[in-house]
This record gives sequence, structure tokens and C-alpha cells, in this order.
Amino acid sequence: MSGADPRPGAAQAVPVLELRGLTKRFGGLAAVNDVSFAIREGGISGLIGPNGAGKTTIFNLITGVYKVSAGSILFKGSPITDLEPYRIADLGVTRTFQNIRLFKNLSARDNVLTACHMSARYGLAEAILRLPRYRREEKALAVKADGLLEIMGLADRADLTANNLPYGLQRRLEITRALALDPTLLLLDEPAAGMNPDETEQLMLLISDIRKRFGLSVLVIEHHMDLIMGVCEHIHVLNFGCSLADGDPAVVAGDPKVVEAYLGQEDER
Ligand SMILES: Nc1ncnc2c1ncn2[C@@H]1O[C@H](COP(=O)(O)OP(=O)(O)O)[C@@H](O)[C@H]1O
Ligand SMILES: [Mg+2]
Repeated sequence: MSGADPRPGAAQAVPVLELRGLTKRFGGLAAVNDVSFAIREGGISGLIGPNGAGKTTIFNLITGVYKVSAGSILFKGSPITDLEPYRIADLGVTRTFQNIRLFKNLSARDNVLTACHMSARYGLAEAILRLPRYRREEKALAVKADGLLEIMGLADRADLTANNLPYGLQRRLEITRALALDPTLLLLDEPAAGMNPDETEQLMLLISDIRKRFGLSVLVIEHHMDLIMGVCEHIHVLNFGCSLADGDPAVVAGDPKVVEAYLGQEDER
């Protein structure tokens, strides 16, 4: 057992996600440049930075959509750097997108059900023949979808088509779909984009609530730091692909480098 950490509870200290020297180049541009940080299992971390800082690129690297140029990504201590996106999703890493991706002409409920079906256990033959297991499972998925819609405050709009939902609720529906995939690590790319401050606060409280309820770890991207200060226990700041600051939200927000990076950004809102 040489090398084992003798501290009590040390086994639980493995971060749910760890980036080590992560780098992604597009031609001559280093969109992500030697970025390292870790997030704690069961926590909410924020990834912030001005437009073009490399935030979404990091999500694309974590989820295997882009191959890394250098560095590595560990999920619960095991490397996932070279895994195919579907394998990474199977491990329980789920994301939402900066631009809403929903089936616009399906109802809110059906949008969630289609996601629930990805975890269904019956086979094609059972589905075609409508065998008992198929019917049981279908019922269970419908209950799951309705339960998630309820938790996310969408139950009374479940029959509306996605494109008839107000914008803020479409964003919530996206998160509901992500939850239907049973994630353990939820990656949210600017979930509050386009929302007013009130809606944003409500959403952040909801994210905090679902994190507890489902025992998730959450990494949330936000362009505006002040919007996630209250819910995140840890923040990593990027600027031009490089790490600018990392740590406690209050300390990070007061860091002169961070303040400088954000100067002149506020009028973009
Ligand atoms: N597929 C791509 N090809 C070329 N450049 C890209 C690609 N994806 C992102 N970039 C560039 O990488 C930089 C970071 O982009 P992005 O990660 O989307 O920033 P953020 O999400 O922080 O606003 C930008 O300069 C962007 O133009
Ligand atoms: Mg982005």
C-alpha cells in the first residue's frame, strides 16, 4: 500500500473531473492553452470568461467532440481523453448547448421522453411486438419524464410544443432532457443566456436544487461572473484560452487580473 493516502476519507477526494494541461489548437490559434483544473464530486463549479475565451471548446473536449491537441482529461480518476463521445456519455457525462437544441415541433413531454428512451432497456423486437416488458418500461419512462417535468417547473406546459414555450422555459427543457440521460456530471453551457436577472436567479437556484436532489456534479459555463457567484463553490476563469484564476468565487472576483479581463465587457449585456 505504499503511496496510498493515509488521510481518512482520502478515497473520496478523487475529483469527478480533472483537466491536465489541456490544449486545443485550431490552425495557429490556441483556443485552449495548457488549462488545468479539477472539480469536486457533488459540487457546482463555474467556468467563466469573456467571449471567445475557450469555454465551449473545453466542453467539446470533455465530451469527446473535439480531440485534444495536448493534455489529458480524467473522469473519476480515469482518463477519457481518447474515448468516443458515446462512451463518455455512457459514463454519465451529459451537456447542454449554448444554442438551444430541442425538437421544436414536439411537445415538452415528448422532448423529455425521447431522451428517456436512450436509457430504455427493452429490445427492438420487444418494442415491435409490444411485449409486456416494453409496456412496463414505457410506463416507467413516462413516469420518469413527468417527474422530471414537475421538478423543473414544466408540468403545466408539458403539452405545449417546444417552440411555443417562452425562451427561458426552452432552456429549462434542455436541462430536463439532459437529466433524463441520468448524468453524474452535468455540463451546462450558458444556461441563462438570454434570460433576465430574475429568471437567471431562479434558474441558478433550480440548478442548485437538482444538484442536491440527483447527487450530481455540475460544471456551468457563464459569460457574466456575477450571475454564478452565488451558486458556485469554485470558479475557473479563462481568458484568450489561458487560465487566469481559479478558486473561491469571492477571491476570484476580486482578483485584479480578472477585473481587468472583464473591464469593458459589462456593456455587452
Ligand atoms: N471548430 C473551430 N474551428 C476554429 N476555431 C474555433 C472552433 N471552435 C472554436 N474556435 C475558436 O476558438 C476560440 C474559443 O471559442 P469558444 O470555445 O467557443 O469560446 P467561448 O465559449 O469561451 O466564447 C474562438 O476564437 C473561436 O473562434
Ligand atoms: Mg461558448
